[in-house]
Amino acid sequence: MKKIINMLLMLTKDELLKKYSAPVPRYTSYPTSPHFKSDVTSEVYEEWIATIPSDEGLSLYFHIPFCDTLCWFCGCHTKITRRYEPVQKYLKYLFREIELVAQKFKESHGNKKHPVKHIHWGGGSPTILEPSDIIKLANHIFENFAVLPDAEFAVEIDPRGMTIEAVRALADAGVTRASLGIQDMTEKVQKAINRIQPYDETKAVVELLRSEGITDINFDLIYGLPHQDLDCIRANVDAVKALKPTRLALFGYAHVPWMKTHMKMIPEEALPSSEERMKQQQLATELLCEAGYRAIGLDHFALPDDPLSLAVEENRLTRNFQGYTDDEAETLIGMGVSSIGVSDAGYIQNFPDMRSYVRAIDANKLPVAKGVATTSNDRMRRTAIQHVMCRYEVKLDDIAHQYGAADNLAQTIGPRLAEFEADGLISREGKTIKVTEEGKPFVRAVAALFDEYLETGKGKHSQAV
Ligand SMILES: C[S@@+](CC[C@H](N)C(=O)[O-])C[C@H]1O[C@@H](n2cnc3c(N)ncnc32)[C@H](O)[C@@H]1O
Ligand code: SF4
Repeated sequence: MKKIINMLLMLTKDELLKKYSAPVPRYTSYPTSPHFKSDVTSEVYEEWIATIPSDEGLSLYFHIPFCDTLCWFCGCHTKITRRYEPVQKYLKYLFREIELVAQKFKESHGNKKHPVKHIHWGGGSPTILEPSDIIKLANHIFENFAVLPDAEFAVEIDPRGMTIEAVRALADAGVTRASLGIQDMTEKVQKAINRIQPYDETKAVVELLRSEGITDINFDLIYGLPHQDLDCIRANVDAVKALKPTRLALFGYAHVPWMKTHMKMIPEEALPSSEERMKQQQLATELLCEAGYRAIGLDHFALPDDPLSLAVEENRLTRNFQGYTDDEAETLIGMGVSSIGVSDAGYIQNFPDMRSYVRAIDANKLPVAKGVATTSNDRMRRTAIQHVMCRYEVKLDDIAHQYGAADNLAQTIGPRLAEFEADGLISREGKTIKVTEEGKPFVRAVAALFDEYLETGKGKHSQAV
């Protein structure tokens, strides 16, 4: 009887969408960036670096904040430049930052280069670099850190205008994974986002990368773009099937014109509704799974033999600023303007504006703008949030075992848990909380249950679905 009453009380899909699509963070960090404060300075960062064990393999992120044209949907930290001079000037400072960071590691570790097991160049568009600078930047990293022979070296690539020389330089530099910005393959959407990228151009770049030995290929696709419909989604999946990347991200378009004013170029009436977004996401998931991809977390897909799929099988999947990853490094060091890093001690963000970044490096200081020291309670909540986002389940007993007591965790989530359960988004078995199939599209809302700072955050986030 109780079951029948519950079923009658169940919300429809549309009602669930209305109730749970309120803006929440994407949880690429916890605490999330609106909670970073300027009392975490370069001196604090130096102390944190000194506590990192000398044999702990690092993950290094390098931000290249330049592009040659502006995509109107872009939420990344980038600046448009038609000239190469600002890029060259920036590289000089980035090289100096690499030396400063490497020196801090050496000072605390008997002058030895620190081991590195993962490198990522992101942007903006790292492929704005001239081929000779691609080689120089890679060499500089290899000269200052002990990059392990099996390290992954991933680079974000804008396929538009990529030359054979640039692809060869990436291969010579030791790049192992190329992540290509695709977004949408159809002309009407490309026009609406100011990004014309013919299929043949993308195909040629994929073939070039493969012929130069870079065979781990990711695609970035987006749903929820202006004028996008289910036919566009089908066309995008057809292109994926033809080009066979090993991994892909399917992001929901985050429309935040109050933060990125160029997004005002996108007419809001051309944006799909929440219901349409959900249908697009579901159709893409269905078609990609039919094509042999495995759905991973909120927005990733991978072929069964891609390391991301293996990480899921072995419960090693985690989340960092690039989204879902199999990168298990405890410490991520961000270099370049606006980059974010994390270690056991907390999060660090570099100055987002070029002027402050340059001024700090001219003064031989690490260009830290802000950060947050994490407490044991933060780390416990971060683990719970990561498990929700990566495994769709949290074992409260395991969390309690790892961090001492999870009582305060249970207390914060307690009041809303019953509501989520009644709405069919989660189920409970003893002290294990599972996200149901119906709950998966709302996984960010479930993760938010564990977020102790959410109410006080001043950051405005994108919609949850
Ligand atoms: C730094 S870009 C990738 C490399 C290169 N700049 C390019 O666009 O080809 C990172 C990715 O973030 C995603 N992205 C950027 N803005 C977004 C937004 N507003 N909403 C969702 N995804 C976004 C895009 O899929 C993009 O490929
Ligand atoms: S989407 Fe990529 S290429 Fe386009 S403006 Fe943003 S960072 Fe640059």
